[in-house]
This record gives sequence, structure tokens and C-alpha cells, in this order.
Amino acid sequence: QDHLLTAKQLSRSDIEAVLERAAEFDDDPEAARDLHAGELLALCFFEPSTRTKMSFETAAKRLGAGVVDMGSVDDSSVKKGESLADTVRVVEGYADGLVLRHPKQGAAKLASERVDVPVVNAGDGAGHHPSQTLLDLYTIREHAGLEDLSIGIVGDLKYGRTVHSLAHALTNFGARQHFVSPESLQLPRSVRYDLHEAGAQVREHEDLEAVLPNLDVLYVTRIQRERFPDDDEYEAVAGEYRVTPELLDEHAKDDLSVMHPLPRVDEIAPEIDDTEYATYFEQAHNGVPVRMALLDSLL
Ligand code: CP
Repeated sequence: QDHLLTAKQLSRSDIEAVLERAAEFDDDPEAARDLHAGELLALCFFEPSTRTKMSFETAAKRLGAGVVDMGSVDDSSVKKGESLADTVRVVEGYADGLVLRHPKQGAAKLASERVDVPVVNAGDGAGHHPSQTLLDLYTIREHAGLEDLSIGIVGDLKYGRTVHSLAHALTNFGARQHFVSPESLQLPRSVRYDLHEAGAQVREHEDLEAVLPNLDVLYVTRIQRERFPDDDEYEAVAGEYRVTPELLDEHAKDDLSVMHPLPRVDEIAPEIDDTEYATYFEQAHNGVPVRMALLDSLL
């Protein structure tokens, strides 16, 4: 059974195949209308989501499939103490594929070992978020190209699952990756080790201004209050980086693309939204054709 659990499992050719198929769906969404008629996708989100959940639902429906949704944890039998293993064993009987978001790292892997339908990891704690990476790569390819890319990734690199997945996937394309964070939010040792083993070109910085002039893409992330064990630790780094029009006009290339997996808090000034730099809403919309391509290959 094929699953999508981490970006580490994706080769360059796997990624290119999904991006090509996504481009076909982007050009002609109607062509997909009945491709998966009669199939059902289960959505099990144990953490909040707007983009991932809604774009998977949209993607499934655009392919002609239906969706069954566990709903919020508070409205499900998780509230009565049901285990993840039991929940997914039950849900696999209702659907042809399962999209899972869960606060525990490794949850999607555990689910994949318990069920006989494809599982997509839609975010497992501070682990991975590989379908986000595919739409990130699709967006980067449209704006800057994936060859000879210089990208800055700024913010919460420690707990940021979108960052961990994107960094692995970019290694396939030989990107120069500049990681910018406070010392306490640097990449986890395990991610750094895996990137080193994969031959990634990585540099780490604390000063965003100094790296900006070299970048084709700036990938901004939220400092995630909900992942910190201690609120004082969060307060010590909150608001550390704030991307403003003045900062970009002074230090960035004119054709820099600013990306963000969203939601944002205050790390990108709203005044950037209507400038040529802003790519993050388009990035979120790319979730639909990319997840159509992913579901088309897995279902
Ligand atoms: N980018 C992302 O995962 O957004 P949601 O949390 O809204 O799904």
C-alpha cells in the first residue's frame, strides 16, 4: 500500500510526476470531474486546520470522490478515550483513503501500520507535512524555478513541520538553503543530520537582513505558541522576525517571492499582501491542484 508519510520518501522524479499532474489539473479542472467517482476520502483531523482540510476536501470533490469527516476531536469518540489505532481501524472501513493530522510525531506512520488504505500525513506534531511541501514546490517552480534556487527559511525551524519536509524535498534539487532563526529555534539535530547525510547545501543564520539580498524565495513561518512547553520560552522569541515592505525594498531582489504556509500572526506585515513579493495566498490555492494530483496517484 502506498502512503505519504514524510518528504524523505519522495525522490526527485516522484515530486516531478506530482507537479506535472497538478499542472494538468490546474489548466483544466473539468477534465478530472469523474476520475474518482464513487470513491471516498476520510478526513481525521485531531488538530485545527483551514487550508489542509478544506483543500483536501475540495480536491477530492473535484475528482468526483466524496468525503467523510471525523469532525473535531470534541465531537468524536476520541473524547471518550478511543485510541488512534482503534479510530483508524474503524475509519478504514468507511473510506478508500485516509488523511490524518495529529499532534503526535509519528502518528501517521502508526496509522499506516494499522490500516489497508493509503494514509496521507497532513501534519504530525513537529514532524512532517509532506503534502504542504508538494504545493510549496509547485509554487516555487512557478515563481523562481527549482533549479539553481537560493531560499531563505525563517522562523520556527525547531517545531516547524512544513520546514522539515520542505528542506528534505529541496535537497533533491540542489537548492542553497539558508535557515534563519533565534538560536533556541534552530533545526532539530535529527533533521540537520538527515540533511547532511542527503548532501543538502545548508547554512544557518540569525540575521535576516544579511541573507536577504541573495534570496530568490523567502519562506516565512509562524512561531507556533502551541508547540512550546513553556509560555516564557515562547515570549522570549515571539516577534523576533517581522517582514515589512521597508525591509524588502531595502534589502531584497525585486523579484523575491515571499511564501508562508499560513496561518500567519504578525510575521508578515499585511502591507506586503498587495505587492509583487506576496505569493502566500496563491501558494494556499495551489493546494487544490496539487492535492488532486496526490489523491489521483494514491486512491
Ligand atoms: N498550512 C497549513 O497546514 O494550514 P492549516 O493548518 O490551516 O491546514
